[in-house]
Amino acid sequence: MTELVIKKPNDLHVHLRQGDEMEGYALRSAEHFEHMLVMPNIKPPVASAKALAEYRRKIQDILKRHKSDCKLLMSFKLIPGMGSDTVRECLRAGAVCAKYYPAGSTTNADDGPRHPSEIAEELSELEQAGFVLSVHAEAPDSPEFSKERDFLSVIEYILTRYPNLRIVVEHLSSADAVQAILDWPERVGASITAHHLAYTVEDLVSDGLDSSLYCKPVLKTQKDREALIAAAISGNAKFFFGSDSAPHPAAKKLCLPVPAGTYTAPVRLSLLAEVFEEAKALNRLEFFASTAGALWYNLPASPQAIKLVKEPWRVPETLDGTIPCAHGKFINWQAQ
Ligand code: NCD
Ligand code: ZN
Repeated sequence: MTELVIKKPNDLHVHLRQGDEMEGYALRSAEHFEHMLVMPNIKPPVASAKALAEYRRKIQDILKRHKSDCKLLMSFKLIPGMGSDTVRECLRAGAVCAKYYPAGSTTNADDGPRHPSEIAEELSELEQAGFVLSVHAEAPDSPEFSKERDFLSVIEYILTRYPNLRIVVEHLSSADAVQAILDWPERVGASITAHHLAYTVEDLVSDGLDSSLYCKPVLKTQKDREALIAAAISGNAKFFFGSDSAPHPAAKKLCLPVPAGTYTAPVRLSLLAEVFEEAKALNRLEFFASTAGALWYNLPASPQAIKLVKEPWRVPETLDGTIPCAHGKFINWQAQ
């Protein structure tokens, strides 16, 4: 197959940042996509209805100016002490989910909870309102390769105490977490990124350190990658696409300490097509990228389609002021 037409996909986890850099990131992330779910870990964080509305307006202005019809989905950050009223106001302001970043787990997460008991009132409010809890599922104090596995017990704690809460485990990275998602009830889903499907820790460290691939959760082993691919191509609606495209300026990625985050917006569909083709599952790509996430968030399917064409292109070394994922490499597929 050299061409694939799919309904316009949804990216259910993107970082667009703020300030001057946001325009390039937002346009790149919107391109080819029907919806994008914007993460709230800017500074100060999106943690009130006012901040949410302001952030959305700024992004919408950019999209409008450039005639993009990608629809925005917003999230807000859970911070201990924010209170159930603030949660309700954020939901009323249009958030589709609340994001739980364990303190110290990733970029701009110092203000997150150390334990879910610190946001008990806020989680109850979310549960009652029927909204989604989106979780960065890593235990900050565990060894790097066990962080995700060690956080599974925290998710179980939340599942037990909030029996109606719907939860998304973001950016799955390990075989253990894939198995947990399969074992847990229907109300637990998971996003999977293109880079965790395409790469392992070997790509990060083995042929000269490639800091553009340094992200949280860190890329893991081939066994983990295979479990993620099996989940993504399975047609199980619990698993859907969220790129976690997380740009940092090139100068920061070339300076110590290197911040976590890989900028995949320019290559995410190409990487997905390569992975699904290699797994002989190109016919499942539409379900993973366009349908499953829409079902989870109750979004209308896109009336439009995009075409993926099997034509090699070389990813630039720098793009939008960053070093993109797969920089300098040839990739086989392009989105049109
Ligand atoms: C993200 C970022 O840079 O905001 N970084 C990352 O490595 N994925 C935050 C996140 O989603 O963990
Ligand atoms: Zn993220």
